[in-house]
Amino acid sequence: MTEALFNLDENTAYETFLQAYPAFEKTKLLDDWRQREYGRLDKNNQIYLDYTGGGLYADSQLQKHLTLLQNNVLGNPHSVNPTSQAMTDLVESTRSYVLRYFNASPDEYVAVFTLNASGALKLVGESYPFGPGDHYLLTFDNHNSVNGIREFARAKGAAVTYVPLTRPDLRIDQARLWELWETADPDHNNLFAYPAQSNFSGVKHPLEFIEQAHERGWDVLLDAAAFVPTNRLDLSAIEPEFVSLSFYKMFGYPTGVGALLMHKRMLKKLKRPWFAGGTVNFATVRGDVHYLAADEAGFEDGTLNYLNIPAVKIGLQHLEQVGVETIGERVSCQTEWLIQQLLQLEHSNGRPMVRIYGPTSTEMRGGTVTLNFYDPEGQLLDYRRIEELASDEGISLRTGCFCNPGTGEIAEELTAEDMLAGLSAGSDINLPRFMEIIQHRGNKSVGAIRVSVGLATNFSDLYRFIQFAVSFRDQTTISIGQITFDIESCRAIRDGS
Ligand SMILES: Cc1ncc(COP(=O)(O)O)c(C=O)c1O
Repeated sequence: MTEALFNLDENTAYETFLQAYPAFEKTKLLDDWRQREYGRLDKNNQIYLDYTGGGLYADSQLQKHLTLLQNNVLGNPHSVNPTSQAMTDLVESTRSYVLRYFNASPDEYVAVFTLNASGALKLVGESYPFGPGDHYLLTFDNHNSVNGIREFARAKGAAVTYVPLTRPDLRIDQARLWELWETADPDHNNLFAYPAQSNFSGVKHPLEFIEQAHERGWDVLLDAAAFVPTNRLDLSAIEPEFVSLSFYKMFGYPTGVGALLMHKRMLKKLKRPWFAGGTVNFATVRGDVHYLAADEAGFEDGTLNYLNIPAVKIGLQHLEQVGVETIGERVSCQTEWLIQQLLQLEHSNGRPMVRIYGPTSTEMRGGTVTLNFYDPEGQLLDYRRIEELASDEGISLRTGCFCNPGTGEIAEELTAEDMLAGLSAGSDINLPRFMEIIQHRGNKSVGAIRVSVGLATNFSDLYRFIQFAVSFRDQTTISIGQITFDIESCRAIRDGS
């Protein structure tokens, strides 16, 4: 375990950190970038620790995109006039770049541009040919946009089964997974969905599952949204049928563009429930016939977010300057240090101040650390109040369930009865009431605090966060004060990513 450094001044703590993590030195370019490209963080005295929510953009990304827009005349790409053609060329060159970045052969994969990862997941959900006898298998650890596919599956008569997680590491219960894989009926459609990295616990789930599931008759949907900002995804080494992602999580800008990377085998298998402008090769009103485009165009409804798409190529090139492996290495050093420091936080009576959900080593885990604070008697401190106090210090954290209710329910051992008791007040239940009911059922929490690090995080951010965490030593619910805002809507159930 690394030394507890929160009693040292920042410079001494940094020296000690560098000695403990010599690999961090190799990521020096990112410290230069922090000054040059992300200087607005320090200028605005902001400590940004929500990279799993959204990445940050570099100044140069914006400048390059602006220059491109200023120097070209660009029209709607659905035409052949010169401005339309110029735009089509930029969109298609970005599409090829995306495939190349993920090492996906254009003979095997298509890249469909979507609004975000959820848009990619919805395309799969609505188009996968679920029917009676088919099976949708998914892990408890999933974003709600993957959970939501169960509604398409059920509506069409397919079975839906969840694979549980093991505690306390919140990894997939592999014994159960292998049993469930064996239930695939080879004469039916079987879809298995899981995240490459958890947006709740930071756990990296094995990519080997893809081939193992294939061998047992499953198509695989890999939600890579939380994985790709700090890891290489190589689609020549693993070949899931579907990959979902949002580009803003990788490099901050642009928002409003994500992708579904889809194996070409699936182009014929998926059945789109409708057609729209841009998706058809031919459609008639009198004849009441339409022919859907046979490639990615069949999945891109209406006009793409075309002016922003070239900024995706700029963003990928930005990441390539330093290499996602370097970012991953840096994040790993930072995450290990952060966890080690948090684990050493104790109240005067020796009781731990925090509980971390998920693995406490960096083996197969990324830079997302989810936790709750407790008082010296082990009573939960309200994470909403902690977020509020963090905000006063300019620290951006995330709280709630991060749109991943299944992992939170397993982490806190919340049963179906607990959740239904919490919801018993009906649809006008609000968050404070829901939290109260759940806390009375055994000091359980329906939410937590998420700290996530990324390419622009430096040591100082983490040091300052740890100093903030230390301030809860010997504090109680009463001494930290009441929350001053009241959230009417139940964020624990409906919060965003
Ligand atoms: C693992 C994971 N999947 C899917 C999503 C959904 O992404 P978006 O909100 O960009 O559609 C998120 C967002 O946080 C995520 O972390």
